[in-house]
Amino acid sequence: MSEHIDSVLTETRVFPPPTAASVGMPRWHVASMQEYRALHRRSLDDPEGFWGEQARMLAWSRPWTRVLDWNPPDARWFVGGQLNACFNCVDRQVETGHGEQVAIVWEGEPVRAPSASAGSNTRNTSPVAGARGSDPEIRRLTYRDLQRETSRLGSALRSLGVKKGDVVTIYMPMVPELAVAMLACARIGAAHSIIFGGFAPHAIVERVIDAKSRVIITADGGYRRGEVVPLRKNVDEALTALGSAGHGVEHVITLQRTGTPTQDAAPGIRGSAPGFHDYHTLLDRANADCPCEAMDAEDMLFLLYTSGSTGKPKGIVHTTGGYMVYTTMTARLVFNLIPDAGQLFWCTADIGWVTGHSYVIYGILPGRVPTLMYEGAPNFPASDRFWDIIERHRVTQLYTAPTAIRTFMKWGQEWPRKHDLSSLQLLGTVGEPINPEAWVWYRDTIGGGRCPVVDTYWQTETGGHVISPLPGCTPTKPGSCTLPLPGIDAAVVNEQGEELPPNQGGLLVTRRPWPGMLRGIYGDRQRYVQGYWSRVKGPGGTALQSGGKNTGLETGAATPYYFSADGARRDQDGYFWIMGRVDDVINVSGHRLGTMEVESALVSHPAVAEAAVVGMPHEIKGTGICAFVTLKSGSGRKADDGLRKELAAHVAREIGALARPDSIRFAEGLPKTRSGKIMRRLLRDLAAGVEKITQDTTTLEDYSVLARLRETDE
Ligand code: WT7
Repeated sequence: MSEHIDSVLTETRVFPPPTAASVGMPRWHVASMQEYRALHRRSLDDPEGFWGEQARMLAWSRPWTRVLDWNPPDARWFVGGQLNACFNCVDRQVETGHGEQVAIVWEGEPVRAPSASAGSNTRNTSPVAGARGSDPEIRRLTYRDLQRETSRLGSALRSLGVKKGDVVTIYMPMVPELAVAMLACARIGAAHSIIFGGFAPHAIVERVIDAKSRVIITADGGYRRGEVVPLRKNVDEALTALGSAGHGVEHVITLQRTGTPTQDAAPGIRGSAPGFHDYHTLLDRANADCPCEAMDAEDMLFLLYTSGSTGKPKGIVHTTGGYMVYTTMTARLVFNLIPDAGQLFWCTADIGWVTGHSYVIYGILPGRVPTLMYEGAPNFPASDRFWDIIERHRVTQLYTAPTAIRTFMKWGQEWPRKHDLSSLQLLGTVGEPINPEAWVWYRDTIGGGRCPVVDTYWQTETGGHVISPLPGCTPTKPGSCTLPLPGIDAAVVNEQGEELPPNQGGLLVTRRPWPGMLRGIYGDRQRYVQGYWSRVKGPGGTALQSGGKNTGLETGAATPYYFSADGARRDQDGYFWIMGRVDDVINVSGHRLGTMEVESALVSHPAVAEAAVVGMPHEIKGTGICAFVTLKSGSGRKADDGLRKELAAHVAREIGALARPDSIRFAEGLPKTRSGKIMRRLLRDLAAGVEKITQDTTTLEDYSVLARLRETDE
């Protein structure tokens, strides 16, 4: 890049790893740095040997003939091998005699108020009246339960005509049936495309069309902070839009969760109306026998849409063999999963995000450690719900996001202090760089200063963790995700692919393929090649261009590097410090959003002529959303707070609440270069309240725009 990325963070504290005994673990899978170094070295010197060993931890119905076939930028892993993801998560545990063990512990959000016997006064006046004593709905599903339920739903899907390779859309709350739905798809070889329940109807429409999906599994609603999220109503709206777009959905399966009345009709769809099915009625009639489909290692397991730097989300493709091997290995090593050791693992992410795919379900169940799913919000009925859950269920590993930790800090330590958190053995974070204060607070206040903290860096595209401490060996530094995992050749380079000296910011790349890597963007080869494999040249290589004959890469090019779109530096100890995205993607509360998506939502409002969206520092969210908006001159609308509210609500309706702008600034014009490109860096500085504009503005088309923008008040 033309300018160095300057790093302002200097953090010098180092925390040595605790002993296994001191946290109550029977052992660490990797117990010394020497062992880690040997493992990492071996994984790079003999990748086929290393990954072959890892893959043998799963059950295969047919062994592979080649571990890796690397034809950049296309990797095929475990070529010729066959396996089934649901079998490895579920049936395998039953077949080895563990069918009665608990696979999933689920807790619903609603609680019955503590009974009157707790005290004569029902109104608790304590300043920290907590969730303790409340009575939530809890369900425990064994591997045998999961085998039965995934078989019934799998058979039902087959009877509706769903075949191997079809894409099933899932839009559900965090209930056990969501886990059953994804595993049932895997069971019959259908790929799932899960859409986070917080997304708006528009998101369903664009994803269903892109994936050419004909079947939707949903629920009438889900509970969130005491309210009902109207999922089926959103699906109905989407169906109407899909109908007018000429995309026929054939079946909609609805689980009754909240008792919200639903109407089985989709206005707007004429002729081929979808078949509406009640989840339980359908399963009651289904054949209980549903063998797992043998899948090729490279068959698609799922599609998951994520934001990129254009307005259109990309369908990230993950395959069966590589993804399962990778998530199973990383979960085992990073979370130190050990079966039959009394562990209960809790990842607080919604299954609608990749974190939930990989570390609520696919990476955890093969490890035969129970996984906890919680339906709702951390502050329902009170701000100690998480700590209450940990205490009641004796959670041993907790995996959550920096934004949640900052929120807990703000709520105050009196909430966790009310609970016995001594069951915890390990803490993890994911989603964005964690500020050292939050890291230390997490370690001390939640982990009692005992538990190792693993700051795991990865992406939807990487399938699983790529840079992370291993809890039993890596000395940790607050704010650093530390060192690459075995098999990962991560580096910080310049655009020429040359590794940079310590503490110099640059581009974060991986220089070799790994099994969990994405295999493409669904239906968009060009975007895959351009977005991930064309930015950074291999050593001595030429820039990789799309348009080559077979691979899309220029022939004769050196091995390309995978470009993460993150900036990073490595310190003098080789530790990685992630500095954030270098593209037009922002990380809001650990959720990825394309600034273009928010911009398109804004310009779809009748009063808006043009919009530019940038990230700005935000105390809780990490990055907040700042929108610069110019109004249509003839709109007759005044640039006032009323319109600000209306635009914010409009964006939330178009995309989902997580995209609601934190700040909207009206402007007469946006700063553009002479070639018409919006100068985002300049807007970022303005949004952050930076006094001195650092960017060179000599290419600015109209200088007065900058002056006027500064004057716009909030
Ligand atoms: C982006 C990927 C991977 C699951 C959740 C997000 C940022 C993620 C960290 C971390 C610093 C992180 C990166 C990355 N990110 N984890 N531990 N430290 N940054 O998945 O939605 O695909 O977002 O999240 O910027 O590129 P995602």
